Amino acid sequence: MVVCCRVICPRKNSPKNSGSESLAKNSLPHEKVLRIGIAGLGTVAQGLLTLLVENAERITRQAGMPIEVVRIASRSAKPEVDVGMAVFDTNLDSLLHDDVDVVVELIGGVDAARELISSALARGKSIVTANKAVLAAHANDWFNGDAILGIEASVAGGIPIMSTLKSGLSGNRIDWLVGIINGTCNYILTAMDEQGTSFAGALTEAQELGYAEADPGFDVDGVDAAQKLALLAALAFDIPVSMDDMYIEGISGVTVEDLRYARELGFRIRHVGIARRNEEKFETRVHPSLIPATDLVGDVAGVANAVIVGANAIGSMLLVGPGAGGLPTASAVLSDLIEIARGTCPRLRIGQNEGIRVPVAATESRYYLNIPAADRPGVFGEIGDILRRGGISIEAVIQKREAIRKSDGEPWVPIVMVTERVVEASMDDALSQLSSLESVRGQIRRIRVADFDR
Ligand code: HSE
Repeated sequence: MVVCCRVICPRKNSPKNSGSESLAKNSLPHEKVLRIGIAGLGTVAQGLLTLLVENAERITRQAGMPIEVVRIASRSAKPEVDVGMAVFDTNLDSLLHDDVDVVVELIGGVDAARELISSALARGKSIVTANKAVLAAHANDWFNGDAILGIEASVAGGIPIMSTLKSGLSGNRIDWLVGIINGTCNYILTAMDEQGTSFAGALTEAQELGYAEADPGFDVDGVDAAQKLALLAALAFDIPVSMDDMYIEGISGVTVEDLRYARELGFRIRHVGIARRNEEKFETRVHPSLIPATDLVGDVAGVANAVIVGANAIGSMLLVGPGAGGLPTASAVLSDLIEIARGTCPRLRIGQNEGIRVPVAATESRYYLNIPAADRPGVFGEIGDILRRGGISIEAVIQKREAIRKSDGEPWVPIVMVTERVVEASMDDALSQLSSLESVRGQIRRIRVADFDR
């Protein structure tokens, strides 16, 4: 059933209900008003409504006109949310009405969002979206045309990385970028590392704080970061948005033991996205990585995100900030809305050349290895022989008496090492030989090391 009503819902327990006048029609003496329709009433939409009230004066000054919410559409009503004078409807198509200039898509997911964005663009409306999933799947249909599409909120929450790539660095040749681009993964890894929280416990906290996707599998399996990396790579390298041949690994294989050993070796473990160009060859991958603790990014904790960009004019630069959550993401949405009001939101331009996507097997890294090995003489020699034959040098190694455990009566111990740089195919080959050793007692854990200067 479609519910269409004009509602003013007092925000319960809020001292700020009087602020809802700022959302009201024509409340400021400007000739023009930017009229927006919001799809969704979740964490980010609520953050946007809050900022439109709390920062109304500055937003109006910066935009050159008031930004007014005229419609909100969400499949389920939330009477506890103050929607001011906006017309609320459970039908997303209500946002296609002539009284809406900009559709702000905050529903997430792909199919309904694609339909809404395509229909709104066909009616000449501008779009602002925080939805990396729909952009990763369909942005190539919308870029390079006349569409005014604000996508700042789709990557790295409150960090202005998209405008940095498309405007601030638009005169550079961008060669690489490395980013912590999933706040939920960073929150979980930091909580496991610093507070000893369990994986499940930290994920629950991230969900309660509004960081995780509706299906948190998208976060912890690396898909959300992969979608964001596809968008970053497109804007950085002027290539079509694509997740084809992207290597995607999540954080479920990272243990508290790995986090401890990484610390001891002078690293932190973070989930990162890496994009690199070499002329027409493009490498894109997301996976957990060891990061030197001395690097600024090693300190990026909790829900924070960070993106380092390497480019031919600037050398390199780092942006750090909150990567998820209602207000930070709403801040990014507002920056696009203000650009649209000013008439300065650039149309997104990318090249058509797909280039050659480099498979992960051809990339080069240092590696952390955790090898559960029988505790008896000669085992280290067997492992060392396989690595030597693969041309793999060991940079650091740890084996501890107190880590000795027993299974089936025989003692075994983790042999933990960091290797020098090697091509991944050689490491894969060495790992398969190591795994078939009788003295190796279980699954070897392998985590790449991210080196930011390459
Ligand atoms: N679930 C996402 C994250 C939200 O944790 O980064 C912001 O895109």
